[in-house]
Amino acid sequence: MKLDAKALRYMSTEDFRVLTAIEIGSRNHDIVPAPLIAQLSRLRSGGINKFITDLIKRKLIASESSSKYVGYKLVYAGYDYLALKTLSKRGSVASVGNQIGVGKESDIFVIAGDNEEQAVLKLHRLGRLSFRNVKNKRDYFRPDQSPSWMYMSRLSAMKEYAFMQVLHQHGFPVPKPIDQNRHCIVMELLDAHPLRQIEKIGEPGKLYSELMDLIVRLAKHGLIHGDFNEFNILIRDDGSPILIDFPQMVSTSHANAEFYFNRDVDCIRTFFKRRFGYESVLYPKFALDANKEFDLDVQVAASGFTKKEQTQLEAFMESEQVGDSNTTPHSHDEEEDEDLPSDEEIVYADDNDNDGSEDDRETGRVNEDDASDSDDDDCDIEYDRLGNTIRRKRA
Ligand SMILES: Nc1ncnc2c1ncn2[C@@H]1O[C@H](COP(=O)(O)OP(=O)(O)OP(=O)(O)O)[C@@H](O)[C@H]1O
Ligand SMILES: [Mg+2]
Repeated sequence: MKLDAKALRYMSTEDFRVLTAIEIGSRNHDIVPAPLIAQLSRLRSGGINKFITDLIKRKLIASESSSKYVGYKLVYAGYDYLALKTLSKRGSVASVGNQIGVGKESDIFVIAGDNEEQAVLKLHRLGRLSFRNVKNKRDYFRPDQSPSWMYMSRLSAMKEYAFMQVLHQHGFPVPKPIDQNRHCIVMELLDAHPLRQIEKIGEPGKLYSELMDLIVRLAKHGLIHGDFNEFNILIRDDGSPILIDFPQMVSTSHANAEFYFNRDVDCIRTFFKRRFGYESVLYPKFALDANKEFDLDVQVAASGFTKKEQTQLEAFMESEQVGDSNTTPHSHDEEEDEDLPSDEEIVYADDNDNDGSEDDRETGRVNEDDASDSDDDDCDIEYDRLGNTIRRKRA
């Protein structure tokens, strides 16, 4: 997908308010009616039509009719703009360069931040696949909440960022995480090539051992990659491997941990045999080699990416067979069952600079005063660092 960063410059505050109003309205409405957009954006209803028409022309939103009314939806480009606006306000993205990857579930661009250093922007795009099987996984979602592409893509980015942070802090070979907002992450640009592109190497045994050691070291830290293969391993010129993508990472206490561990090991054995004609009788076994000594799985859970979100993402991935190997039969832990944070309609405080971006939300509470459409008037809405909605009952 094209990412037209230049158009960001031509966005007015009102455009962003309307886009953000549609984003917020989508939490409770599949298609957001114009009066609600006017209310949420604090713009006059007479005035918003112009902005809506303009945003449709620029393909940032789309109009759709239900049996009852005509309303509006964000499309990916609109969601991209909201994320980019926030990331550029924070200085993490100043300009967007070439696209270097189009994955099944992501678009990857080289970007530069305010410090002019190059980095990588990865936009998660889970809705690129259909949501065909998700209805079988309804148990994982609130009955009135459809697992939208927006929500699942945001969870997927939050997961990747949470794992990347914890792994990086503990000295694992992963890109340095820089920032995250909505469905986007910004990370270090690596000077390395995917293992799948490498036809020959001098010492396959050395790389084989390093990769098996990495699987074992992860397990000793309480983690299993779950998709450890030639697509998600980059190799630097000096031959050292880096892990780049963790769509299916799970804890070693996951019910199917042994299965995932063995599958990761088998992926590497099979690839080395096929590509380099290399076979070894030595390979790690879960029962012998995966004794947990550290608890990075617990640390990730404490980082803001919750167990509940992990379970929802797994349910979605299982139903859609997301991931590079596309062979993943998952099962799920069922310990926690607290309700999802619920998303409410909100109205901005009068603040000309308030474009609804996460930075604005981070500054605190958002007024809800005349949101007559809201069915829960006695709550205050706050947002945490990752943009999750926290609804607190007023005393
Ligand atoms: N930090 C990075 N530095 C350099 N290149 C990167 C980086 N992250 C990703 N890439 C490039 O983008 C490709 C896809 O990245 P990634 O695996 O994260 O996305 P994906 O959606 O799983 O895509 P795919 O389906 O192709 O695996 C990688 O194979 C690599 O070539
Ligand atoms: Mg990948």
